[in-house]
Amino acid sequence: MFHPEGPTFFEQVRQCLSSTRKGYDLLAPKFEFTPYRTPDEMLQAVSAILETDSFETALDVCCGTGAGMRMLRPLVGRKVVGIDFSKEMLHEAQRLLAYSEGGAELEFVHGDVLEMSFDEAFDLATCFGALGHIYGKDTDLFLQKIHHALRPGGKFVFITTSSPPVCSRTFWLSHGFNLAMKIRNLVVRPPFIMYYLTFLLPEIRQTLERNGFRVEVESPEELGLYQVVVATKVG
Ligand SMILES: C[S@@+](CC[C@H](N)C(=O)[O-])C[C@H]1O[C@@H](n2cnc3c(N)ncnc32)[C@H](O)[C@@H]1O
Repeated sequence: MFHPEGPTFFEQVRQCLSSTRKGYDLLAPKFEFTPYRTPDEMLQAVSAILETDSFETALDVCCGTGAGMRMLRPLVGRKVVGIDFSKEMLHEAQRLLAYSEGGAELEFVHGDVLEMSFDEAFDLATCFGALGHIYGKDTDLFLQKIHHALRPGGKFVFITTSSPPVCSRTFWLSHGFNLAMKIRNLVVRPPFIMYYLTFLLPEIRQTLERNGFRVEVESPEELGLYQVVVATKVG
């Protein structure tokens, strides 16, 4: 599962026993060699959907080491901003994107997405591989922050899927992992927030609509069971 240059088992245990932020600070130098980094093939599928549109400014939420920002840069006219609360992940993003393709200016913002205060500054917001870090109880707040950051007509784009069948291995592995994380977070403080099967279709459609978005779902063949949600800010 892991690249030889990825984290060792003990490094992962140490990361998981830290807070989410500290865990990513520790993981940052090896993050590109983990399966947690969104694969370029998935990002390419999103790029193909976005390239029919034009965007001046874009925000990549929980940008990590910048995989999403790299995909966005050639599609965006003026500026791509990445926000993340791990300083070390941002540091890696800055290093890795120094010579990336595209002319848009890059900006790296250190901050918690649940506290961000961008005001109608972006035409596009994306979030890849990080929705499991948002507690269910914070979903509305998260979407409100993104809604506030977008201009009217701006788009929030992310990849998700629907709940796997109860008889599938993925269902039980995901729920087993979530249970283990709940127990970990009951006994160890501060919590490491990471849960599978969040922001799932079809339920997330209603949540987005309740928070002022119109929702379209694209199903590129190359993404298999994954789908791309394009939520447009209305009003
Ligand atoms: C699995 S990584 C994904 C990185 C990148 N988007 C990608 O697809 O490769 C999740 C990232 O979310 C960040 N993160 C998690 N919760 C956050 C929060 N509340 N505010 C800001 N960043 C957060 C972590 O620091 C980490 O860099």
